[in-house]
Amino acid sequence: MRVLILGIILLGAAGFLRAEWKPDPELVKLGKKVYMSRCVICHGEKGDGRGIIGVIHRVEKSGLVWTIYPRDFTSGVFKFRSTPSGCLPTDEDLMRTVRNGIPRSGMPGHADLSEKEIRAVVEYIKTFSERWREEEPCEPIKVKMPKWVGCPDSVAKGKELYKKMKCWECHGMEGKGDGPKADQLKDDWGDKIVPFDFTTGALKMGFAPDRLYLAFTAGLDGSGMPSYQDSLTDEERWHLVSYALKLMGRLDDIKKYGGGVCK
Ligand code: HEC
Ligand code: HEC
Repeated sequence: MRVLILGIILLGAAGFLRAEWKPDPELVKLGKKVYMSRCVICHGEKGDGRGIIGVIHRVEKSGLVWTIYPRDFTSGVFKFRSTPSGCLPTDEDLMRTVRNGIPRSGMPGHADLSEKEIRAVVEYIKTFSERWREEEPCEPIKVKMPKWVGCPDSVAKGKELYKKMKCWECHGMEGKGDGPKADQLKDDWGDKIVPFDFTTGALKMGFAPDRLYLAFTAGLDGSGMPSYQDSLTDEERWHLVSYALKLMGRLDDIKKYGGGVCK
């Protein structure tokens, strides 16, 4: 009996602690209005990514041609997160994507919307997938850049890791997105996808050393770009940031972010 009572108390406490998401009706109403005027054309009325402009064709610098589909929100899978692989993104992750758009994808930025409208449209897109109601939010990954990022020693170590971890199989030896596997990749939605061409210099998540670190750490769920949170140490992932900056031709930018302090 005592065990039963304890069990009930514990279950009750767990239910109470669960940060269950309930859509805010006012925000959803405003969000739907924004969505119908700004997003529906690509993401579709049902949020399944099949709007009137269902596809965007792209030619990467390396000459590879493929088609990008606007995200299917009903799957609840998102690429540009600050949370570990397999987790839902934070509201701030989604708001950043809406505000800045996604370079090299055809998704425009919406910086002309007010912060309230951006928050509202994010609330609305969360209603398309059950995942938000069913799952607990994950803690965002803590990111703290060491000062030596971008130094020659770290670039050299990053280059070794790039080889060792077989990044080149997809991204190519010189980072041009033309590795041996590049032409056969499909994303979780069954569509052809092309690995990042570093020489474009433009990250889909937006350029910053932190964003590069998150790309290797959290991975880009649904895209086939894996997470290396468990297979590489924190330090190793920062060496990869150094090498990625080199491949992108953006090593000079690191000082602006407080890196490049070499011995
Ligand atoms: C011109 C077409 C277009 C419009 C308009 C557009 N999007 Fe997108 N959106 C895309 C494409 C294409 C992708 C997929 C990009 C990729 O995966 O590389 C995308 C992806 C996304 C993602 C997924 C990000 C992730 O982490 O995976 C979100 C969220 C999003 N769009 C929100 C919106 C919202 C909200 C609006 C309206 C305010 C909007 N989009 C308007 C084309 C569009
Ligand atoms: C199995 C193939 C594969 C492997 C292995 C792989 N990637 Fe990727 N990577 C991809 C794909 C596909 C994308 C493009 C995702 C997209 O455009 O939505 C990508 C995207 C990226 C991006 C761009 C993120 C952005 O915001 O645009 C970076 C940086 C990156 N990969 C670095 C690496 C590094 C470093 C390694 C090795 C530690 C690696 N990748 C291993 C397939 C791979």
